[in-house]
Amino acid sequence: MNKKSVKDVEVRGKRVFVRCDFNVPMKDGKITSDKRIAGAIPTIQYLLENGAKVILCSHMGKPHNIFTEGFGLTKKEKKAVEKLPVEEQAAAKEAYLAKAGEDQKKLTLKPVADRLNEYLGNKVTFATDIIGEDAKAKVAALKEGEAVLLENVRFDAREEKNGADFAEALASMADLFVNDAFGTAHRAHASTEGISHYIPAVSGFLIDKEITFMGGALEAPKHPFVAILGGAKVSDKIGVITNLIDKVDTIIIGGGMAYTFVKAQGGKIGNSLCEDDKLDLALELIAKAKAKGVNFLLPVDNKCAAAYDNDADSVTCDADKVPDGYMGLDIGPKTIEIYSNAVKDAKTVIWNGPMGVCEFENYAGGTRAVASVIAESDAISIVGGGDSTAAIENLGFADKITHISTGGGASLEFLEGKELPGIACLQDK
Ligand code: 3PG
Repeated sequence: MNKKSVKDVEVRGKRVFVRCDFNVPMKDGKITSDKRIAGAIPTIQYLLENGAKVILCSHMGKPHNIFTEGFGLTKKEKKAVEKLPVEEQAAAKEAYLAKAGEDQKKLTLKPVADRLNEYLGNKVTFATDIIGEDAKAKVAALKEGEAVLLENVRFDAREEKNGADFAEALASMADLFVNDAFGTAHRAHASTEGISHYIPAVSGFLIDKEITFMGGALEAPKHPFVAILGGAKVSDKIGVITNLIDKVDTIIIGGGMAYTFVKAQGGKIGNSLCEDDKLDLALELIAKAKAKGVNFLLPVDNKCAAAYDNDADSVTCDADKVPDGYMGLDIGPKTIEIYSNAVKDAKTVIWNGPMGVCEFENYAGGTRAVASVIAESDAISIVGGGDSTAAIENLGFADKITHISTGGGASLEFLEGKELPGIACLQDK
């Protein structure tokens, strides 16, 4: 990567603002997967060991922008309130605000601070605000080798609006900006991009790693290069398919989006998912792949159900002959075999998106089969996206994958060949 990293600058004695992506899944106030926290530890550890005063910052979820959204509600809520009879509006507004307060509590980063302390041996304090009195006092009290985690940066609406005054206030707390939030690098927010206008900006190790593996695969892949793309919608993956068509030898399509391709080619898909406004585009993508000599693989058979239900009546049929009243929910056994053979000889594999409705036990087989064959292959393997990553992890294959991306939307945009603002803003070497 031609961006400066934390190793290219002096950090000792400096106040270093580190943007992480601690947007971790939570249930009942508990962290259910700390992968993103673990992913940020090498950078934080390096800074602490090298005598930096570390200011950690992240968002979690999409909290109410209760400080700046008009009269305190989101735009959607405001509209809903305005539609009510005048005498009901005050109570409805109050109910929304009460909920906003609850959301705010649920989306605090305090549990993240606790988890960080488990990793780092109690070196992290927690500030109950972002640029307020508590944050300022805790930053001022930092000694070399200590860290403070600021409260959820999205509690201030100026974060997502990339407000210059807010970015400057964040920057004023530090001497150096280290971006290590790969998962949020596709957002030009105050703490991911705006801050870089005020203090020098370099990357952390996680961003470096993501770029090395994903960038390496895109720029100089070992061939055969196979991309496996799944998920519900063609529209979500158009950019990725278009960018990869110029680079890969094979594109494998699974998941709900496969049915749009099958229908576009004249197949019968019953009640399967379909984006009817994308049929022409599907044909264009197939034609483009053919023109470039890319092997474009679509399912040849499906496991179908009479309803969107794990226990509904089920049949396996040819991909273009889904019976009336049925919907395809997973790839079938012949498809699994074809896809597995395509992956076995690959030297580089990128996988993003499930092959079927993997939250239904009866329709998780295709996704699992793909996860297994990638894990068994000797290829450089790069996996992104929540469902694909979960399949790899649940099967215990995480250590057999070359790189599991910590980014959802960010990895997709990276694979689309887009410049991510949180990376573009870093200093060049
Ligand atoms: C993610 O989970 O993909 C990142 O944390 C970004 O979150 P966002 O989509 O709310 O910006």
